Order: sequence, then C-alpha cells, then structure tokens
Amino acid sequence: MAGGIDPVKASARAALRWLMDMGADETVGDVPIDRFATVAVPVAAAPAPRAREAAPTPRPSPARPLPSAPSTALPQGDAAASAREIAATCDTLPALRAALQSFEGCSLKKTATQLVFADGAPDAPLMLIGEAPGRDEDIKGLPFVGASGQLLDRVLAAIGRDRTKAYITNMLFWRPPGNREPTIEETATCLPFVERHIALKRPKVIVTLGNIAAKQILRTSEGITRLRGKWFLYERDGLSIPIIATFHPAALLRNPANKRYVWRDFLSVQEKLESLGVER
Ligand code: URA
Repeated sequence: MAGGIDPVKASARAALRWLMDMGADETVGDVPIDRFATVAVPVAAAPAPRAREAAPTPRPSPARPLPSAPSTALPQGDAAASAREIAATCDTLPALRAALQSFEGCSLKKTATQLVFADGAPDAPLMLIGEAPGRDEDIKGLPFVGASGQLLDRVLAAIGRDRTKAYITNMLFWRPPGNREPTIEETATCLPFVERHIALKRPKVIVTLGNIAAKQILRTSEGITRLRGKWFLYERDGLSIPIIATFHPAALLRNPANKRYVWRDFLSVQEKLESLGVER
C-alpha cells in the first residue's frame, strides 16, 4: 500500500486501543480467548457431599432454581444465593477452593487469569482479609504478592510474623479488570464464600485491610477512617472472633503518613494474640 494506511493494521491498532481503554494491561497469550462465549457448563458445581454428610439430614434444595445450561450467567441475586448454597456444602478449605474454582456466578472470573484463593498457613491464628487481587496476584494466583504485598510482609515482620504464621485472603477471588473497584454485586456474590472461609479457617484474630473488607465483614456503612484501630467481635456461624480493621497497604503506598496508624494497629493485634495465649 504505497503511502496509505494499512486498514488491517489500523483496525488492529484500534482494537488494541479499545482493549487498553477497557482496562486490559497484560498480554496473557498469543491466541485470543472469548471468555464471554456461551458454553454448556453447569452454573453451580458444588462439590459432592462427603459420605458422612449425606446420611441422616439431607440438605434442603436451593431456595431458587438455578438456570439450566447453556446459560452461564446468573442474575446477581441468584448468584449470591447460589454462592451461599455452595459455600455451605464445603467442609474443608480445599473443598471451598475447589467450589470456587468451578463457580460460574461471578463475572470477574471471565476476565481474570485465574482464581486467587489464599496464601499462608491454614492453621495460623491470624487471618488477614484484603480487597481483591491485582495484576501480580492474577498472574501468580496468590494474594498480596505485588508492591502492597511486600509492604504487608514488612508490617507482619514488625510483629514477628511472616506467611508461615499468618493466613491471607481477599474479599474477591478474581481480579477486577484494570484493578477497578469491585461492584456491589461482585462483592455480594463473593461474600458467602468469604464468610465460609472464616468459618472453616477459625482464626483466633481477624484483620481486615481497607475500606471494602471492613465494611463488608463488619456489616457497616462506616468508613475505614472511623473503623480502624478498634476491636470488634466477628459473631457469625457460632464463632466469636476478635476483629480489627486497618488501612489497606496500597493506601499506605499512596499516603505513607498513615503507616504509623497501621503499625499501631498491628501492635494491638500482637497484644491481642498474646492475650489469647498465641506465641509469635
Ligand atoms: N490488594 C488486595 O487487596 N489484595 C491483593 O491480593 C493484592 C492487592
């Protein structure tokens, strides 16, 4: 094409520009995958109940009928109801992870590279709950491995802990595209899994990181600035666990002056653990 603009290249460039505007910031393969294509997969693949669960009291059937294949998209209210049903069938952390792996009710899964479930020691007394995986976490499949994760590791080190002595997860199990804020629907759909996560993990102390985790787990509309640094009790599923909210490490990277509050909050966490007889 002497002197003219190659229409194929121009169209490819326009498509790339559109993807970047939509929040794409990573190339993960040579061949495009249409994650929105309709495929015949079960909407809610709950793990099979284990033998001892199956016998005397059969589980009630789901409150609402699940749409049948081939549609994989659930209306959001149904997605949260389906999530609750499925989460309740999980008896162990690996079962919960497997259930999330096959859960099709959260649209974030379509754009994420992979599930980001948890990192650290499943039997650690301390459970940290962040917001959502970012780019690095999406690539590695582990929470808090990017810049904010490195800061979190330093905060943990300040109280003599590392990931062998803490358990880390998020409110969302898939990366929101372009790291945008999760929607209310996405958070509501993942919340039953988070609550089941806590019930199965049974930590001695919970720390929420950032606004979204604090509001959702404490079920309040108060913001993080008011909530942080105070002890509450997480009372659900027969549990009563001391819980404290603090700023998100990513917020500290933007506003380092708040580091002193987080340091203070984690010293309080260490004191709480010690008062509960937990050694470093
Ligand atoms: N921010 C989070 O809230 N979670 C992560 O896993 C990483 C960054």
